[in-house]
Amino acid sequence: MFRLRVAPSTLARSNNTLLKPHTLPRPFITGLPVATARRFDSTTTQPKISDRIKHDHKELEDCYNAIITSKDPAQQVRFQNLFVWELARHSIAEEIVVYPAFEKYIPDGKLMADKDRAEHLEVKELLYDFQNMTPEDPAFITTLQSLWSSLSKHIKEEERQDLPALEKHIDSDVSMSMANSFQKTKHFVPTRSHPSAPDKPPYETAVGLLTTPMDKLMDMFKTFPKDEERPNPPGARPPA
Ligand SMILES: [Fe+2]
Ligand SMILES: [Fe+2]
Repeated sequence: MFRLRVAPSTLARSNNTLLKPHTLPRPFITGLPVATARRFDSTTTQPKISDRIKHDHKELEDCYNAIITSKDPAQQVRFQNLFVWELARHSIAEEIVVYPAFEKYIPDGKLMADKDRAEHLEVKELLYDFQNMTPEDPAFITTLQSLWSSLSKHIKEEERQDLPALEKHIDSDVSMSMANSFQKTKHFVPTRSHPSAPDKPPYETAVGLLTTPMDKLMDMFKTFPKDEERPNPPGARPPA
């Protein structure tokens, strides 16, 4: 079952309103079935990488629509927080797991990966602006609309061109394994300790996550224990 979680100790430590508990949307805390908390049914077919990515895209679209249509500033802030956090970790996971796979498996995949990285950069710059705005800010909605204009174009290209090309060049086992890796990278949460920085991980906030150099994040991901080494492997853990 797919749940969104942030550890309480992290929330208490964070000095950024982005992650303060009272501003967090419900899915972060309870995993309750709201519109943006769609889940995969893990008892059926294992998802492929394109399924995982499309699932995230739909959640982002739901968040966007919730912010645009809501008349309640407090609710807008909750969905803003969810949108920023989900987009940050979705982008990072794509850059670590998916774009290198374009380069590896697709002829001319490097061109595709570089185009997608450039589009991410454009979106990230707008995300930096948006995350510090409040609904009272006159540019709150227009900034989000600009961001969504770029992001939705990027999403369409990924879903219509890039991911079908990738699936065409890999078999389903590779795709499912990639989907698993993609989910693991998304488990980068601010409390994830690392020997080099046990108290102050560089990705303490979504901003920290986005500004951490990609090679450093990739090194961290490589040094995570394998599932069988962990006392509570993800598959064996009861639902929270
Ligand atoms: Fe992307
Ligand atoms: Fe994407």
